Amino acid sequence: MKHLRKVDPQIAELVAKEQKRQETTLMMIPSENMASSAVEEAVASSLGNKYAEGYPHRRYYQGQGYVDQVEQLAAVRAKKLFDVDCANVQPYSGSPANLAVLLALCNPGDTILGLALDSGGHLTHGANVSFTGKFFNAVQYSVGKDGFLDYEQISRLAKKTKPRLIIAGTTAYPRIIDWKKFAQIADDVGAYLLADISHISGLIVGGVYPSPSPHVHVMMTTTHKSLRGPRGAMILVTHRGLAKDEKIMDKIDKAVFPGLQGGPHENTIAGIAVALKEASAPHFKKYAKQIVANAKTLAQELLSYGFTLVSGGTDSHLILIDLRNKDLLGNTMAVACERIGIILNRNAIPFDPNPPFYPSGIRLGTPGITSRGMKEKEMKKIASFMHTLIKDLLETKKRLGISKEDEKKKETRKRLVAHTKSIPLLRTEVFNLCKKFPLKEVY
Ligand SMILES: Cc1ncc(COP(=O)(O)O)c(C=O)c1O
Repeated sequence: MKHLRKVDPQIAELVAKEQKRQETTLMMIPSENMASSAVEEAVASSLGNKYAEGYPHRRYYQGQGYVDQVEQLAAVRAKKLFDVDCANVQPYSGSPANLAVLLALCNPGDTILGLALDSGGHLTHGANVSFTGKFFNAVQYSVGKDGFLDYEQISRLAKKTKPRLIIAGTTAYPRIIDWKKFAQIADDVGAYLLADISHISGLIVGGVYPSPSPHVHVMMTTTHKSLRGPRGAMILVTHRGLAKDEKIMDKIDKAVFPGLQGGPHENTIAGIAVALKEASAPHFKKYAKQIVANAKTLAQELLSYGFTLVSGGTDSHLILIDLRNKDLLGNTMAVACERIGIILNRNAIPFDPNPPFYPSGIRLGTPGITSRGMKEKEMKKIASFMHTLIKDLLETKKRLGISKEDEKKKETRKRLVAHTKSIPLLRTEVFNLCKKFPLKEVY
């Protein structure tokens, strides 16, 4: 950061501190990952200086010779890797990409069917606080009491509400999605079927999670999660999509630009192209396999320590812990975990009795820590750290006489964490673990 240090030491220092934070803590938010140095170089390149409104060979400005090639390479690689017919690599991120699909295939007010937020759906799948819930008639399905998707309920809702588009995809669901069942449900009512594979796209190309490509019409993925690319997104159209609607890609391209966005971020698109090349190499399969093996081991260990997991375990990179049997808010556990260096997030659990701001769960995942080379042995350690921490938190909570209502106050949570004696020692353990696995790409 030679130049940055000279020009803006304040920002340089913050960047350096953030780098250090990432080095010395465990990145266990399941939607986060570490892009490779090659991806970072592409993103930081001079391609970011170029305006390129339009699409390759159909731009509105001059000087497009190289960015056209970059964008075409990214699209060709995306099509090959995800086994689809067409790709748009311009969306700035996952939320605008979902909006673009809705703009392309639905009219405002049309009915859409997506997974409810507290069942693991994303905001853009029709939540009432999101544009998708405001501008469309959003009907929400949920998981069953067992934490698994309830396909009969989805089918019933689809038949009753006749959605124009169904979204299959999740942000906090640990299990495998049955794409074929979704396709049957969508076909029965003539709906478009969008698979939002943002979380699992790296697992899909790594061959450890079934691909929706043979079953759905459109796929959307962010590129910065398990795929390990820069912060961006792609919209992919399948063979089935083209068979249903031969103009589908044209509609999607127009929805992205000029419908929703202006100039594409060609530096990010170059980073996506690099990430796609990396994900097509044999070592990425090993990486994806290890992500799932790590999550399964972690889940097993957490279960053995008496944690309750939504759906009883995981098939993917992600674990959702229901803390109700521990009598602790997700907020408290998330803050305490941060204090020992385990970075995860509080999360609603299905049918959460608590409001979203004080949810009863936490969500954690393995893509980030697998990128730095951690394996099953380290997962066992992490589970034991979490076990020691929660035991101490509960004892301390009792000792301090903190009630459920009290725990909702930030100050009380701070006091609880401050009195939890095992925290400094656990912080050292996590720090030492991080030191053994420096932040360089192992796969
Ligand atoms: C399933 C799913 N879709 C869409 C998004 C939105 O992506 P972004 O945060 O890049 O807008 C996310 C992000 O968490 C997600 O998990």
